[in-house]
Amino acid sequence: MVEKQKTKERVFNVVCIHLYRELPALWNIYGQVFWYQPEQVHISYGDNVYEIVVTWNGGPLKKSQYIHTVKLKDLTPDSFYVYHCGSDYGWSNLFSFRTASNASDWQPHLAIFGDMGNENAQSLVRLQEEAQRGIYDAILHVGDFAYDMDSDNAEVGDAFMRQIESIAAYLPYMTCPGNHEEMYNFSNYRERFNMPGGHDSYMFSINIGPMHIISISTEVYYFLNYGIKPLIFQYDWLEKDLANANLPENREKQPWIIVMGHRPMYCSNLNHDDCTHYETLTRVGLPFLHFFGLEQLLYNYAVDLEIWAHEHSYERLWPIYNYTVYNGSYEQPYVNPQAPFISPLVRQDARRVERISQ
Ligand SMILES: [Fe+2]
Repeated sequence: MVEKQKTKERVFNVVCIHLYRELPALWNIYGQVFWYQPEQVHISYGDNVYEIVVTWNGGPLKKSQYIHTVKLKDLTPDSFYVYHCGSDYGWSNLFSFRTASNASDWQPHLAIFGDMGNENAQSLVRLQEEAQRGIYDAILHVGDFAYDMDSDNAEVGDAFMRQIESIAAYLPYMTCPGNHEEMYNFSNYRERFNMPGGHDSYMFSINIGPMHIISISTEVYYFLNYGIKPLIFQYDWLEKDLANANLPENREKQPWIIVMGHRPMYCSNLNHDDCTHYETLTRVGLPFLHFFGLEQLLYNYAVDLEIWAHEHSYERLWPIYNYTVYNGSYEQPYVNPQAPFISPLVRQDARRVERISQ
């Protein structure tokens, strides 16, 4: 259990819509056992770090399932909250979370990873253990979940969400979509995770302490079968968000601008994916036209750190722009660098799966 600290505790009774009121007769007729307890409970930040969105699943899985969401607003900074969710037909266990501090010297601790599924999730145990010990303030999962959430009538997604409940019910679990979420126009991703920015949005930004964290979809560059509008919309949104983050009053409060997305602009693996392409789509934009390239945009707005995943291998790059290193100095490459530096993360979870498809 998370260690309780000397702060105010509150219990939220988050009541879901009573969708099952008319169902008891069906239970008796067929004698079936249904599971009405909330499950797959997870939380995320709302429009700011003092809002927490609770999401859980419930109801029998047939052709559809019920996903419930409640937003808890105006929470007290640096406070410990206890909550559960459910209805007259069943309640979840008690979970808890700590809200972000509003102290100017607060240094949040984030666990950042991508490409984690049900199979071979080597880091999951450590994450579960450390999350329960209260080491982290939030999670960033940089795309690719479950392998895949839509598989087996979405039961693979359900199993994954149950597995991460011991992390995600206690810590804001912030995400971006990866290529493995593509099926049915990313519907499993959009329905299961409630990020800031609204249901149909793939991108958001949020201030966490001194960091302005921007989450984008690199997949809008690759799955143009869903149209080019999401790409244009995201690029336009991103430029506005970066311009706003760079206003002197904002950059003073959040000097670190961090962008996360699934597919890297640079990588050195010798696969037949992006790494062997000199001009990755996200880096230079659309083929031939080179519209909407991200590298120039992130460079122009002095982004500090880029976090990518997808490759299932760890690489950290020096500050780089257009294949040129822009270290601050030889001795201290990351102090006052002249370009973003890059951490294409990732661990070796699901290695067997990735060999089939990254
Ligand atoms: Fe991927």
